[in-house]
Amino acid sequence: MADAVGNKASKDYGVGVPPPDSGGFPIKGAGHLDWGMQHRLAQMFSPASGNTVMLAFDHGYIMGPTSGLERLDLVIPPLAPYVNVLMGTRGAFKTCVPPTVQKPICLRSTYDTSVLFEDMTVGGGIAIDMENAVAMDAVAVAVQTFIGSAGEARSLELLARTVDAGTKAGIPTLGVVAVGKDMARTEQFFLLATRMLAENGAHVVKSYYCDGFEHVTHACPVPIVIAGGKKLPESEALTMAYRAINEGARGVDMGRNIFQADDPNAMAQAVGKVVHEAFTDKRAYEFYLDVKS
Ligand code: 5RP
Repeated sequence: MADAVGNKASKDYGVGVPPPDSGGFPIKGAGHLDWGMQHRLAQMFSPASGNTVMLAFDHGYIMGPTSGLERLDLVIPPLAPYVNVLMGTRGAFKTCVPPTVQKPICLRSTYDTSVLFEDMTVGGGIAIDMENAVAMDAVAVAVQTFIGSAGEARSLELLARTVDAGTKAGIPTLGVVAVGKDMARTEQFFLLATRMLAENGAHVVKSYYCDGFEHVTHACPVPIVIAGGKKLPESEALTMAYRAINEGARGVDMGRNIFQADDPNAMAQAVGKVVHEAFTDKRAYEFYLDVKS
């Protein structure tokens, strides 16, 4: 069995060398997937830019009514026109997002322990099975994973079982890298975690931005989208998105830095300018200030 002791340090990430040809299909690592799976992925990633802006509003599943998400019904539908995918829980969609909002949805398919629990990294279980995800017309399902923490093995099992069920249903799986509060957000950690999720079957991986991020995106054989993390000043959040895209991310799955912005609608549009239209962070921030009400 391979082990970490005595391994040679990784160094050659082929930065600048394109990923293997996906048989003409534009999404990294997805060339050999079935039609239904590709059709759903093609709804997540813009055909023009190849990138995606996903709006994450699943925070209540462990945190309760987070600032900015006190009323999902008032906040989420107005943001939908500015993003490619809405990412949330079954309960949030069913109660607060009218089905007439014509936007692809990514369903959080695992539950986890609340912020009150002493160690959230023990993880949880399946919150919605694949049959019900199909009934909800999901284009993807998201599984939380806890690499390096108490819930590592259990979450990888949930990931693999979800990928199995999703393969039969034609629904891709977004593997989410969780970072415990005591864990360092280093290149080494994200290299390990993102690669583990991809090799265990995730079709898209959600990670955080870090120093050395270019290595992380190049070593991961499927697209990476970044979470925004805690609220930053709008200009800094746009800089993070800009760097991530320029270092190989295929989009964002951002929550607080959009819905907690002074003007969430303007921020969602500004993030879209970076992700889809190659705006610099500076230009996107100017755009944000222009659009902000
Ligand atoms: C947690 C998640 C959340 O969806 C994500 O953290 C929300 O996005 P943000 O950090 O941008 O508020 O996947 O693991």
